[in-house]
Amino acid sequence: MRIPLIVVMVLTCATVAFADAHEEAEVDAQTVEEEAEARPVRTPETKVAALFQGRCAACHSGEQPAAGLVLTTDGFRTAILDVPSVELEKLKIIDTETSDQSYLLMKVRGDKGIQGGRMPAGMPPLEDEEIQVIEEWIAFVIAARAAEAAEEEEGAAGAAAGAAAAGAAAAGAASEDASPADEDASPGETEGKKKP
Ligand code: HEC
Repeated sequence: MRIPLIVVMVLTCATVAFADAHEEAEVDAQTVEEEAEARPVRTPETKVAALFQGRCAACHSGEQPAAGLVLTTDGFRTAILDVPSVELEKLKIIDTETSDQSYLLMKVRGDKGIQGGRMPAGMPPLEDEEIQVIEEWIAFVIAARAAEAAEEEEGAAGAAAGAAAAGAAAAGAASEDASPADEDASPGETEGKKKP
C-alpha cells in the first residue's frame, strides 16, 4: 500500500512548522536573558560599586591595598561603612551619621583637611556626577538603615503594647472578686496607655 503523497506533505509541513516554533521560543528566551545581562539593574549600590571598581580598585585591592583600603565590588561595603580612616583616625571612611564628614568624600573632593593626595591618586579628579553617585549611595544606605530601625521599633512597640494589654487583663482578672480595687486600678491603666 502506498501512502498518499498529500499525507506525506502535510506531515512534513507540520513537523517543520513545529520545529520552527520551538526554535523561535528558544531564541526569544535567549534574547531576553542576554538583554538582562547587558542591562543590569542600576541601583545606588551597583552604581557606586562600578565607580569604585573602575576608578579606585586598581590600587585599592589585592594583598596590599593602598592605605589598607579595599574598594572592590564585593569588598567595599564592609571596608568603608563606619570604618575609621587610617590617615585621620577621628574620621570614618564613610560616616553614616554625619555623611558629609566621610573621609572618602573629602579625599575625592580634595578638601583642605585631608592627609596625602586627592583621590584617585595621580589621575584626573572625579566628575561632579561621580561624586554625586557616592553621595547618593550613602543617602541610600542611611535610608535603608532608618527603615530597618523603624521596622524593628514597630515590632518592639507592638510587643510592649501586647505585654501592657496582657498586664491590664491580668490586673482586671485579679480585681474581679475585689471590686473596690477596681477603681484604684483604672487611672493607672489609662495613664499607662497614654505613654507612647
Ligand atoms: C593610583 C593608585 C590609587 C588610586 C587609583 C586610588 N587611590 Fe586611594 N589611595 C592611594 C594611596 C597610595 C593612598 C595613601 C596615600 C594618600 O592618601 O595619598 C590612598 C588613600 C586613600 C584613602 C585614605 C584611606 C584611609 O584609611 O585614610 C581613601 C579614602 C582613598 N584612598 C579613596 C580612594 C578612592 C575613593 C579612589 C577612587 C575614586 C581611590 N582612592 C583611588 C592610591 C590610590
